[in-house]
Amino acid sequence: MPKKRREFIKKILLAGIGVELAPSIMRASEQLGPHESTLLSIGEQHGNYWERLSRKFPLLKNYYYFNNAALGSTPNCVSKAVHDCSVILESTGATGHHLVQNLRTNIASFLGANATEIALIRNATEGMNIVANGIKLEPGDEIVITTHEHVSGTMPWVRAAQITGAKIVFAELDLSGEANYEKILALTSAKTKVIVFSHVTCTTGMVLPVKRIASWCRKNNVYACVDGAQAAGMISVDLHDLEVDFYTTCGHKWLYGPKETGMLYVSERNLKILGGGYVGAYSDANYDAKNGILELKNEASRYEYGTRNTALIVGLGRAVDFIKEIGIERIQNRGAGLKTYLHDLLKDMPEVEIFTPNNPEFSASILTFRLKTLDYKEAQKLLITKYQIRIRGIYENEINGIRVSCACYNSEKQIEILVAALKEIMNA
Ligand SMILES: Cc1ncc(COP(=O)(O)O)c(C=O)c1O
Repeated sequence: MPKKRREFIKKILLAGIGVELAPSIMRASEQLGPHESTLLSIGEQHGNYWERLSRKFPLLKNYYYFNNAALGSTPNCVSKAVHDCSVILESTGATGHHLVQNLRTNIASFLGANATEIALIRNATEGMNIVANGIKLEPGDEIVITTHEHVSGTMPWVRAAQITGAKIVFAELDLSGEANYEKILALTSAKTKVIVFSHVTCTTGMVLPVKRIASWCRKNNVYACVDGAQAAGMISVDLHDLEVDFYTTCGHKWLYGPKETGMLYVSERNLKILGGGYVGAYSDANYDAKNGILELKNEASRYEYGTRNTALIVGLGRAVDFIKEIGIERIQNRGAGLKTYLHDLLKDMPEVEIFTPNNPEFSASILTFRLKTLDYKEAQKLLITKYQIRIRGIYENEINGIRVSCACYNSEKQIEILVAALKEIMNA
């Protein structure tokens, strides 16, 4: 057995019996062998860089996956990190729990947050539930929420309203992106307790003015609760700069991380205000059941409890490193470039109605459009069965359109294939 691996196993075993680890312990992904460096192994960032990068993903040849906004594909290095960590943990029966703290620091700093403000959860939905159940709502309190939220973004609030007697106020959005600050704030009142909105909407990929809305919220004593499931990894996210109260997101879309990984940001000033939620081993700072003592940790990890799949969290850390190696700004520009390329190919087609704003301030890597001459469900079926092209139909808000996600593994060539297929199915 290689020395490095032997030492790693020793550390895990010692941690398992409560022996303190050397402070120098590094992230599990590093301990598990050297990173396959994305940049070095695929060469300098020029030429066919993106094509070589796409080969790091296990996606099938002649299969065109434009549905990253639903579920990202995971590059091989991430799957390998998950696998290797599992094998090592399984070889000793260790939980690997002690590895999580270093991963948390890495993930938090990527999102512009402190490690103490990040709970590593299972998905974006879980984070939204923690906030919706945790904010103290009274009968008559108002929850302003946009009509472009994902079902998982809205449902926890509908339930919270049912339980508490609070009222939901729905905000329609301006599809051009320009007037959303005004449209959302026009619905607030002295009763507004929280505004719930997406950073990037899952319907049309529209970017909402998070910083401006959050700033208004702070001045007016209202919570800003943001769904970032479509933002983290697609665009640069700096949570301290945005100054939101709560931000929930996931690893399994634009971060290209393992499935069932998520993060909830709870800003420092709100760490103690969220009640409810599950607690258990690892949630507490001080616990003595017989004497009635339970003090939860004064950090967001108080929302974590019980046994976790550490290998998935290691994989999430590896996914963040993968993105950092490429550079989030480059990924953001690449996604926006592909989206604009598709927009430009479609914009003069009279049978196509585009819903995503073209203004780069209000859009990123998603383009949603409707085919006026073909039902979106039929189009979705034809695209996958005849052309192996996977998009997502958008039925929400009666858009009845097609959502195309432009991930780092997609290409201009693939977009041309998609447009050719669209022309064929519309003219068939
Ligand atoms: C905006 C938004 N929020 C929440 C979710 C649900 O994410 P998860 O499956 O991580 O809970 C999605 C999934 O598509 C989404 O697009």
